[in-house]
Order: sequence, then structure tokens, then C-alpha cells
Amino acid sequence: MKSDIQCLISAGPTREWIDPVRFISNPSSGKMGYALAHAAHNLGIKVTLVSGPVNLKVPDGVCSIMVETAQEMNDAMQELFEKTDVTIMSAAVCDHRPQIKHTQKLKKNRQSSYIQLEANPDILESLGKRKKSSQVLVGFAAETENHLANAMTKIRKKNLDWIALNDVSSRGLGFQSDFNAITMLSKDEETVIFDRDTKLVIASRILKLLF
Ligand code: C5P
Repeated sequence: MKSDIQCLISAGPTREWIDPVRFISNPSSGKMGYALAHAAHNLGIKVTLVSGPVNLKVPDGVCSIMVETAQEMNDAMQELFEKTDVTIMSAAVCDHRPQIKHTQKLKKNRQSSYIQLEANPDILESLGKRKKSSQVLVGFAAETENHLANAMTKIRKKNLDWIALNDVSSRGLGFQSDFNAITMLSKDEETVIFDRDTKLVIASRILKLLF
């Protein structure tokens, strides 16, 4: 029964604070992750959505945990992962964060304009290390070149079952858009192509492939 299946989905960007009024982030809208949560819930699956800051309504019936930073997202994902059957990491996690979060707003005339960065945890990679054979782990990738080869390297490195390869080269797709086109690549090198469609339709197709 699908209602026994626990699905964990991450969505949106993370924010890495420089000072109280500035952060490093990216233009992820969270639409793909929210569409996945919506589509999974429609299939009767129990869904928990771990979301970075976005302007979207959490789909009815979906549990949500709102986070800001990659470290907060990591904490939430690590805690929930154990009891999860299928985990889909669609969040656009910032790879780096400022080494220091200043407690006061930085002045524009300060002596040094450098911001020292340090690496954030790779959440997906560490979930891959913990993954049991009964669990399914899915990542997202946005490649601009050597798409399939890079995606396959990521599958191996992060111990994934599937990777959803976003087409970021076409206009009107991907970040912010309501549309996407995706190539699903499995650890067994199976490829399934989902041509341009709304993120909700693409999300339903991804879930049909996984369940
Ligand atoms: O290596 P790359 O960042 O291209 O991999 C993208 C995948 O890894 C996405 O599923 C993203 O959610 C995940 N990721 C992560 N933690 C990071 C960076 C990316 O979980 N620090």
C-alpha cells in the first residue's frame, strides 16, 4: 500500500548569511520539489518536505519543515532519513557559506572586501553513505556540458539510484520556470527522457518511474 511509503523531499535554495541583512543564495524557486511533494501526496504517499525559503504554499496534506541554511537542511534531512523509503534531493544547496556570519551589518567602507568561504556539507553524498539497500535515493543535477557522463559520475560518487538531469541550456526551463525537461538516469545506466512539460506533469512521471 502506497500509504505505508515514506517519502522525503528537499526543495528550494539555501541562504548562507554574510551579516544580518545579506546572504549568498541562488535563484531556485522550489517549484520542482513542491511539484514532487504534491504529486507524491496525490499518489497516497506520506510526504515530508524540507524546504528552503520560497514563495510557495505547501501542498495540502504534506508535512513541512522550513529551513534556511545548508546546515539546517542537513540536520533535518539526516534526522528524517532513517525512516524514509524514498528520498529526493531537489534542493539547490549552496556549496559554500561565509566562514564568519557578522553580527552587525558590514559597512561599505570597511578595509577588506573579501568574504572568506568554507564548504557546506554535501547532504546527498552523506545520505548516500548511510543508505540501506531497501532505500531509494534520488538526486538532481544541472549540467551545462558532458551531461550524461557528469551525471553518471555523480550517481557513483553519491551512491544514488537515480539522478534527474535538468536541461539548463534551453530558455524557459529549469530555475524559476513552471516548465522543465528532464532525463532520468539510473545507476544501471537506464535513461528515461521526459520532454518539456509543466513541473507537475514531470513530477508525476518521475514518481511513476520510482514507485
Ligand atoms: O554535485 P552537485 O551539486 O551538482 O549535485 C547536485 C545534487 O546534490 C542535488 O541533488 C543537490 O540537492 C545535492 N547537493 C547536496 N548538498 C550540497 C550540494 C548539492 O545535497 N552541498
